[in-house]
Amino acid sequence: MIGRIDHVAIVVRDLQAALAVYEDALGLTCSHTEKVPEQEVTVAFLPTGDSEIELLEPTSTDSGVARFLEQRGEGMHHICLEVDDIEATLADLAARGVPLIDKTPKQGVYGRVAFIHPKGAHGVLIELMERTDQP
Ligand code: CO
Repeated sequence: MIGRIDHVAIVVRDLQAALAVYEDALGLTCSHTEKVPEQEVTVAFLPTGDSEIELLEPTSTDSGVARFLEQRGEGMHHICLEVDDIEATLADLAARGVPLIDKTPKQGVYGRVAFIHPKGAHGVLIELMERTDQP
């Protein structure tokens, strides 16, 4: 079952410049920043009620996120939906013919995650997360 929106991830060129907008202008508070070496990004987490905005700045030029930034520019990268049983959700989606980037979950920072291909979700990259660590 799909729950709340866990986070919306936005790719930016310069985390400090982006935080000037999201913190100073919008009034959100960055709870912490974190380097995620597997994805070659630095992430700033900005809680928004029950969800979060994550600002992603690539730390290399050849990662998936860096290529996204070069090809499409800054903007929304993915939306993450919380699920209660990621295996069951992936099995259901596969049975419905929805194209999956990850057929089995992988371990993320806060839980197990898998991505649905944007070509199967009307242009939006969707991350599914079964949280093991509460925000
Ligand atoms: Co995410």
